[in-house]
Amino acid sequence: MKDLLKFLTCGSVDDGKSTLIGHMLYDAKLLYTDQKRALEMDSRLKSRNGTLDYSLLLDGLMAEREQGITIDVAYRYFSTDNRSFIVADAPGHEEYTRNMAVGASFADLAVILVDVAKGVQRQTRRHIRICNLMGIRHFVFAVNKMDLVHYDKKYFDEVVLEIEKITAGFQVESACSIPVSATEGDNINDTSVRMGWYEGKPLLAYLEQVDVSSGQKEEAGFVMPVQRVCRPNSEYRGFQGQIESGSISVSSEVTVLPNGEKAKVKSIYRGDALVETAEAGWPVSIAFDREVDVSRGCVLVSGFSGMVSNMISARLLWMDDEPLIPGKNYFVKLGTKTTPGTVMSVKYKIDINDGRHVPADVIYKNEIADCQISLSEKIVMDKFSRCEAMGGFILTDRVTNMTSACGVIKHDLRRSDNLVWQETDVTRQMRSAQKGQEPLTLWFTGLSGSGKSALANALEKRLLALGRHTMLLDGDNVRMGLCRNLGFTQQDRIENIRRVAEVSKLMNDAGLIVLTAFISPYAQDRENARTVIGDNFVEIYVSTPLEVCEKRDVKGLYAKARKGEIPNFTGISSAYEPPSNPEIQIDTSTCTLEEAVEQIVERLEEIGKSNNE
Ligand code: ADX
Repeated sequence: MKDLLKFLTCGSVDDGKSTLIGHMLYDAKLLYTDQKRALEMDSRLKSRNGTLDYSLLLDGLMAEREQGITIDVAYRYFSTDNRSFIVADAPGHEEYTRNMAVGASFADLAVILVDVAKGVQRQTRRHIRICNLMGIRHFVFAVNKMDLVHYDKKYFDEVVLEIEKITAGFQVESACSIPVSATEGDNINDTSVRMGWYEGKPLLAYLEQVDVSSGQKEEAGFVMPVQRVCRPNSEYRGFQGQIESGSISVSSEVTVLPNGEKAKVKSIYRGDALVETAEAGWPVSIAFDREVDVSRGCVLVSGFSGMVSNMISARLLWMDDEPLIPGKNYFVKLGTKTTPGTVMSVKYKIDINDGRHVPADVIYKNEIADCQISLSEKIVMDKFSRCEAMGGFILTDRVTNMTSACGVIKHDLRRSDNLVWQETDVTRQMRSAQKGQEPLTLWFTGLSGSGKSALANALEKRLLALGRHTMLLDGDNVRMGLCRNLGFTQQDRIENIRRVAEVSKLMNDAGLIVLTAFISPYAQDRENARTVIGDNFVEIYVSTPLEVCEKRDVKGLYAKARKGEIPNFTGISSAYEPPSNPEIQIDTSTCTLEEAVEQIVERLEEIGKSNNE
């Protein structure tokens, strides 16, 4: 099989990207007769003077755009005598950053078009940065439209100087600048006679011989993320997946991560053929000499220098219309594993133009930032620079399922490795047994003025009278102490609720029944609180309508908010997401306080959380 080069073309709308690839295919006689005929006919109709318009060849993409079909990345396959190629063509405009990232993640090399008259643009820097983020280390700069500057070396040299300044700041293993004219065909497939001063190869010849095997890359060892466990009969249990790095042979010892169990390879199937040895890129089915606990998401390794961790330090390319807010929960998909994770903090964002680190709390669409991410469980990972398969990941929105970001792991924080949970002799069970009660967190949520505090207060009195041991955490009070440094932005509210959930859990550990009265406007944060607190969490939605809360206006805050004096006021200028399935719901505008308390006590009994037994 001929050696394959996967490359990506990047350029802005007018840089001549389609024309360049079109011309390359046409000149190299890589088109089918019907494609060629269609191009000649289309050109006669559409181009100004009947000359061939090579960009029409790649207009499949345009047609999709006109029809409103979502464009992802267009892949084109071609082959010369010396090499096979797959070229990924992604739209270059900023709004299609996501597509470019997808194209870049597949490619080994990027051909970046630069308009010689315009020089290196902001867009060009962005393209290089995204390619580099996605692991591309080989670049060709096609300095295009040389015909418009009369093939003058001076202009080319100026652009090359700019390019060299930029690439100096990146991890680049090979870079080459070629002066071309995509419309006229200079230095595309044949050496241009009009630029005798250029001593290098034309573009196609360069692509045919460039070596993209990463020479000095650190060894990642044998790595195979398990996609599927195959059990056709009681005799055979094989673990299927693609080998991402290294090789493996029958009788070699393999470690299964994250649990660390070891086993020897008994057999390797590639398709239905038994093989002795298998290597990177092969899809295989591996069976062990003994029973080992393996499921999808586990990773088979040998000589692996990556890590198993629940904290990562990563560089993200944010692609969501909604900005990245630290504290929000996403799904993190890495290898064959998907696990919930939270971006704990943004360290800085990276200026797309000069690579400077800029302090930032919030990251907007198409921005790149370094962040710390906390995962809900330990997973197998590696530095992206050592193992792309174990170091690249995506974040997806838990509600919409859309990809919010793609990221690469820089290193793990190993913080979790330095912390060891200390078992205490007096346990949660002993503390609650001493108090003669099962701990609970009664989580009141609702608008300001809905009656959360009043209800929680009355219920606590009732519970105290019943001999229960309780604690009431109230929004305004907690914000005067523990959460004194927090305001009412989305980010601060997320942190407010996170702290309250952790404190409630600790108080439950102490054996107490906790009542919390916080607006807690975001469904996701209440879900997180439920996860932290566990089975003892009871969500009580105080659903008093906004009009009633506003009419009551006990603290006079609604009047101020309406006058614009309080920003981000819940219900007025900041959202409240009602619970979809609360354990208890109470509307205080339809009953007295005593009746409401009675209803809650009854409901707690019904759902078996009353503690009266
Ligand atoms: S939460 O959204 O983070 O859960 P929390 O319950 O702690 O809010 O605090 C809400 C209380 O803060 C309200 O009852 C009100 O007294 C006061 N407050 C001050 N500013 C705002 C605001 N912008 N939005 C909502 N409540 C506010």
